[in-house]
Amino acid sequence: MEYNISVLIPEEEVDKKVREIAAKISEDYAGKTIHLICILKGSVFFACELAKRITVPVTIDFMSVSSYGAGTKSSGVVRMVKDLDEPLEGKHVLIVEDIIDTGRTLAHLIELFQTRKPASVKLCTLLDKPERRIKPIEVDYTCFQIPDKFVIGYGLDYDQKYRNLPYIGVVEFVEEEN
Ligand code: IMP
Ligand code: MG
Repeated sequence: MEYNISVLIPEEEVDKKVREIAAKISEDYAGKTIHLICILKGSVFFACELAKRITVPVTIDFMSVSSYGAGTKSSGVVRMVKDLDEPLEGKHVLIVEDIIDTGRTLAHLIELFQTRKPASVKLCTLLDKPERRIKPIEVDYTCFQIPDKFVIGYGLDYDQKYRNLPYIGVVEFVEEEN
């Protein structure tokens, strides 16, 4: 299917917001160490930018889950591809996500993480598409709420491509003429 890509949130705006959220997180976690959980692959760009601007001590771990197939519709099945390397017990866990769509991925992960007895669990997301929520999720830090559009860039992919775009773009499909 033919499609065009346009800018939804420019690079400068994303950078500014990431700095603001990092400052807020640093304030909220004063005196604590954050155990930042990056959800691969989409969150990796955001997690790095965020972590660089947090001023309290940070440790990092990675989990890889997959819920989307090759297209733009979620399969609804959350599959763990790689578990965390470190235990969560007693740690102040901050989950970093690229986007919350239906909420299925995070509902599943939060439930799993709680069984590992962390001191606290909070959630930070670059993007939130509240219109599509199926599972209720309490988000502690949101950079941008966006409408129900398929977005790419800053870690987000379409068929594994465009993760490296420095801005948030939107994919617009071109109607085919018959
Ligand atoms: P959820 O479980 O439906 O909340 O889906 C979360 C995951 O779906 C995200 O971590 C993304 O990997 C993917 N996703 C949802 N919406 C988009 C989008 O607009 N562009 C790219 N990936 C998306
Ligand atoms: Mg993701």
